[in-house]
Amino acid sequence: MNPKTPFSLLALVALVFVFSSSSSRVNALNILEQLKGYDNYGAFVELLNQTKLYQKINQRNTVTILILTNATIGAIQGRSDDEKEKIISTHVLLDYFDKIKLSKIAKSAKITTLYQSSGVADGNQGFVNITHMASGDILFGSAVKNASLVARLEKEVFTKPYNLSVLQVSLPIVPPGIGEAILPPPPPPFTPPPADPPTKSDDEEEETEEESTDTPAEAPGPESDSPAPSPVGDDADAPGPATDKEEDTPADTATGSGASRVFVGAVALMAVVFNLL
Ligand SMILES: *[C@@H]1O[C@H](CO)[C@@H](O)[C@H](O)[C@H]1NC(C)=O
Ligand SMILES: *[C@@H]1O[C@H](CO)[C@@H](O)[C@H](O)[C@H]1NC(C)=O
Ligand SMILES: *[C@@H]1O[C@H](CO)[C@@H](O)[C@H](O)[C@H]1NC(C)=O
Ligand SMILES: *[C@@H]1O[C@H](CO)[C@@H](O)[C@H](O)[C@H]1NC(C)=O
Ligand SMILES: *[C@@H]1O[C@H](CO)[C@@H](O)[C@H](O)[C@H]1NC(C)=O
Repeated sequence: MNPKTPFSLLALVALVFVFSSSSSRVNALNILEQLKGYDNYGAFVELLNQTKLYQKINQRNTVTILILTNATIGAIQGRSDDEKEKIISTHVLLDYFDKIKLSKIAKSAKITTLYQSSGVADGNQGFVNITHMASGDILFGSAVKNASLVARLEKEVFTKPYNLSVLQVSLPIVPPGIGEAILPPPPPPFTPPPADPPTKSDDEEEETEEESTDTPAEAPGPESDSPAPSPVGDDADAPGPATDKEEDTPADTATGSGASRVFVGAVALMAVVFNLL
């Protein structure tokens, strides 16, 4: 029995580990490949391709893409290549955010984008403001002061924890100073709950930017021959019913992935140990 055999075996195993981990690094985030088949985002993917931003994304380990559907990207498609590149790179956050992590943002956060890493962004142009509204909505906008939070989270398209997350948002985020601004749509009409006095006392909420439109007096709708006052009017900017906060997501929702992280860590440790042998 040659006592050296197990050691060379171990060395071989270690080599395989090192080799496979470095080769998986080479094609790190193949973003165009990942988005293949999501036809609804075809125009966005085309822009990632044309602007070559996909190459910069592929060099990253941790990215969240605020993606736009063919229907909502129209507002920026007619712009110059330079503007399109700046705007699209604003939609690439250099951090990982899935729905759970977003819901844990207490109020708001300022996140670095790929545009910041280009080195040509001014002031806060290269940052995105994520705001968790009291209603539970997640809004995104340029972090430049007074820029509006134009984009709303519509859905999580897919995630590869903790490297890549793709989130569909409602409108393009155009940092002030990069061509024509895009403003948020007026709040959608909804039926306000009857007599909801503002009894909220905690200082959790900030609704300052929702009061820009003039609130009409409590007059019923102008429809002359409807007997009952129809509340589906234009006073849609009343604060939403704050009953359904999404804050009670149990913290242990992520334990599965936590466990897989521990496993990955153990494997990495093993690889190091084998390497030393
Ligand atoms: C995912 O992120 C980790 C840590 O940031 C990194 O080591 C790994 O290479 C990344 N994987 C890919 C496919 O980018
Ligand atoms: C979205 O737009 C792209 C290119 O502009 C197109 O190839 C794709 O078919 C469109 N997808 C849908 C669902 O319309
Ligand atoms: C990217 O653009 C090139 C042409 O410039 C094209 O050949 C290729 O198919 C495109 N890839 C994707 C995923 O759209
Ligand atoms: C994000 O925007 C909101 C609304 O404009 C603002 O109140 C908040 O301070 C901003 N947060 C950060 C981190 O810039
Ligand atoms: C932001 O808005 C406030 C109020 O509308 C205004 O007084 C202030 O000058 C604005 N700041 C900037 C940097 O535009």
